[in-house]
Amino acid sequence: MAWIHPMAFKHWPLVRDLRFAQKCGRYLRGARKRRPDLDWNEFHRVARHFKTDDMGSFPERGFLYQLASDAPAGAQVIEVGSWMGASTCFLAAGLKGDAAKIFAVDNFQGLSTCGEDAAWYNRHFRKLGSSSTLEIFRGNFAALGFANRAEPVVSDSLAAAQSLQAKRGTIDLVFIDGDHSYAACAADIAAWAPYVKRGGVIAFHDFGSRASGVTQAIFEAIKAGRFAEIVGVANTIIAFRM
Ligand SMILES: C[S@@+](CC[C@H](N)C(=O)[O-])C[C@H]1O[C@@H](n2cnc3c(N)ncnc32)[C@H](O)[C@@H]1O
Repeated sequence: MAWIHPMAFKHWPLVRDLRFAQKCGRYLRGARKRRPDLDWNEFHRVARHFKTDDMGSFPERGFLYQLASDAPAGAQVIEVGSWMGASTCFLAAGLKGDAAKIFAVDNFQGLSTCGEDAAWYNRHFRKLGSSSTLEIFRGNFAALGFANRAEPVVSDSLAAAQSLQAKRGTIDLVFIDGDHSYAACAADIAAWAPYVKRGGVIAFHDFGSRASGVTQAIFEAIKAGRFAEIVGVANTIIAFRM
């Protein structure tokens, strides 16, 4: 009889739920020790909602939750690259105060100039049977009760940086996870870093990942002295204070 690899069953609901419970439980045990001041039950609620989403690891999602929790009450956040809203919801979960808001910038069409990514997104869109992730994004926010915390900005990143000009120097936290090519990531840093207020945070996904253009663009920004200090790293998310 042919041998079947155990991972072949990983998408079966029971196996998936068991793997989620084990991995999330392990992560939460450490997180609760490191940051006993944060409400990790809220993190767990959001993680359960996104248990079939594969855009980030628990340490990365926990780090986003922590960065948003550490932002002041009423914080203003910009995310570039929201996809279906998983990272956006982990950020929303950590925010405090009625005025807190995330401007979620995305063309919501999974467009990327990064060749490898493009094939992955095309496959995903065929599976979704849709040409936009905006409705899925809205559905996730509504399901978790965060609808009033997000304002989707349906736009190309650089065009959004033009239309949101008035917010330059006022943003507490910027998270960049958009186009992963070198040129686009470098352009995103140049366009969005000026939005972060002094003492605010800019964070990036995919630093040190196979998206080498992202790593190169961030290294160049470090060398050019764009960031004041490093706030932390969790897997491929790196965050800097401005
Ligand atoms: C890796 S996904 C984001 C994943 C999301 N942050 C998460 O963790 O769930 C990248 C997203 O960036 C968006 N994107 C790529 N290039 C863009 C551009 N130039 N302007 C706006 N959005 C862009 C894509 O549509 C896609 O939704």
